[in-house]
Amino acid sequence: MSKGLFITFEGGDGSGKSTQIEKLKDYLEGKGFHVVLTREPGGTKISEDIREIILDSRNTEMSDMTETLLYAAARAQLVEQVIRPAVERGDMVICDRFVDSSMAYQAYGRGLGDIVWDINKNAVGDYMPDLTILLRLDPEAGMGRISGRKQDRIELSSSDFHRRVYEGYLALEKRFPDRIKGIDASRGIEEISEEIINIVQDLI
Ligand code: TMP
Repeated sequence: MSKGLFITFEGGDGSGKSTQIEKLKDYLEGKGFHVVLTREPGGTKISEDIREIILDSRNTEMSDMTETLLYAAARAQLVEQVIRPAVERGDMVICDRFVDSSMAYQAYGRGLGDIVWDINKNAVGDYMPDLTILLRLDPEAGMGRISGRKQDRIELSSSDFHRRVYEGYLALEKRFPDRIKGIDASRGIEEISEEIINIVQDLI
């Protein structure tokens, strides 16, 4: 059986990833592919347990390095247990966030820099997505979209933090132009979805 594809979605909080992931899944299933949807941090029992610790808004004392290592630990488990086996079976894997989230949020947002890259390279054994869709949306617009619901520990960070995350994503798009495709996410759902499907079609 031929190898499947590993596609990730990235973007700031409120950028509309979940909606677009569902639309891409429907499209790929309509084409007859078997799609595995997963998310970070999470996607396995162990990784979901780690997610609870990371996002708990009571964990205000968590250090930036602890946060980085916990995301990397959740990711290592997800790659081993779910992503790599599914791609090897020939499935289409769509993951909501991956290493680029740690780069944007911890390397740029928290200011830890490229040590985050080194940690994650080791955590995933150099296993990277075939394609990353980056939903670009100004952080103020994104945070405005989610202001009505209960926010987790990361979402509660300052607006300066979310601005640095956004700028981090733009820098990553420049650093990995072959893998990361940035999309203007301020437009309508259908228009964005069409652009994503066109990009994915070129790969399959
Ligand atoms: P979610 O809200 O998209 O499920 O993601 C949970 C939060 O965790 C979100 O605010 C982004 C943040 N995050 C990081 O800071 N680093 C990471 O490596 C990942 C995967 C998520």
